[in-house]
Amino acid sequence: MGIIVENRKMKKLFGGVYFGKKVLITGHTGFKGSWLALWLSQMGADIIGYSLQPPTNPNHFDLLGMKINSIIGDIRNLEKLKQVFKEHKPEIVFHLAAQPIVRISYINPIETFSSNVMGTVNIFEASRAVFTVKAIVNITSDKCYENENKEWLWGYREVDPVGGFDPYSASKGCAELITNCWRNSFFNLKDYNTTHQTLIASCRAGNVIGGGDWAVDRLVPDLVRSASKNESVKIRNPSAVRPWQHVLEPLSGYLLLGQKLLDGYYDFAEAWNFGPSDEDNATVVDIANMVKKSWSKIRFDAENSSKLLCQNQPHEAGILKLDCSKSRAKLKWLPVWDIKKTIEKTSEWYRAFYEFNEIKSLENISSYISDAENKNMEWVK
Ligand SMILES: NC(=O)c1ccc[n+]([C@@H]2O[C@H](COP(=O)([O-])OP(=O)(O)OC[C@H]3O[C@@H](n4cnc5c(N)ncnc54)[C@H](O)[C@@H]3O)[C@@H](O)[C@H]2O)c1
Repeated sequence: MGIIVENRKMKKLFGGVYFGKKVLITGHTGFKGSWLALWLSQMGADIIGYSLQPPTNPNHFDLLGMKINSIIGDIRNLEKLKQVFKEHKPEIVFHLAAQPIVRISYINPIETFSSNVMGTVNIFEASRAVFTVKAIVNITSDKCYENENKEWLWGYREVDPVGGFDPYSASKGCAELITNCWRNSFFNLKDYNTTHQTLIASCRAGNVIGGGDWAVDRLVPDLVRSASKNESVKIRNPSAVRPWQHVLEPLSGYLLLGQKLLDGYYDFAEAWNFGPSDEDNATVVDIANMVKKSWSKIRFDAENSSKLLCQNQPHEAGILKLDCSKSRAKLKWLPVWDIKKTIEKTSEWYRAFYEFNEIKSLENISSYISDAENKNMEWVK
């Protein structure tokens, strides 16, 4: 085992704001949500998770075996949501529950829109029905931007229009519009601390990788799943450029933003990009090659598959980058791990799982915090 950050230090992260705080996480049984729940539980938060059953088997949530209040429920069920909010009185909500896969959204657009759009409306309405929620951090996506026929070489900024070609991307564009609408109509900043006390913000992160993801149709899970069966993967869209980052990167951004909102800084109640440094935007095949370098069992076929599969591919963006100048300047948020370290940590996690039945998530969090401390990040001070 590597370094484990001592409890005392863990509780002081993000100004110590999460210690003893009632935090409701939607999507806690999923990849990002389970990492967020683990980190928050280490900081001493009182966590209530609300989600459908874990979406895959195996899954990170069950492997962690955390002792949190885990409620299995659908965000489309407003009555149940309201009951949960009334009973548990959360002070901050991190909303991550969604149907997050582009290709599934082509197969099942209705489920994608009902969960990602009406589910988000329900989260805001359930928050409005109680007076305890001081902050809502709504997780949308880098894919929320209007990118049809753009293929910009530069990154999207928070002020660029939202849109989305495919059902998933459009549903996340809608989730952004809804956030704006509720902030204007019900949680207006001019009425903050008079008729309401809730600040809401949205976050657009990049293509997240890290241990514990087994979702279908995602590059790293596809590679490691196949390696575990000694199979090779056919890679679609090998030349697509994406903003890759370790799962802990956007989470440190969400937590830092949550801290600002809980502390009442109302000028942070807006949209935020949390992406990698520009040089860490890489193609799909670059990432596959890097993963293979750190785990030789990985096998894939990019050339043939690109010819074979691309004609029958549903549309996905070719180049997608995020401009994170605003989060760097205003939130003082910066990535901690570059792409090399991200791949190293991710491959190491899956190797430890498949070869030694070991879960390295806590060790990853500790090592991320130590590296953040060495880089003098705002949230560790
Ligand atoms: N993973 C990425 O690269 C990435 C990138 C950008 C944005 N995001 C966003 O981050 C969030 C989390 O993504 P993830 O990668 O952890 O996905 P995931 O599929 O691993 O987890 C999704 C979670 O949402 C829950 N869920 C889905 N529909 C629900 C419903 N109707 N009611 C209640 N719970 C429901 C699932 O049970 C699961 O807990 C999503 O909103 C996704 O759009 C992910």
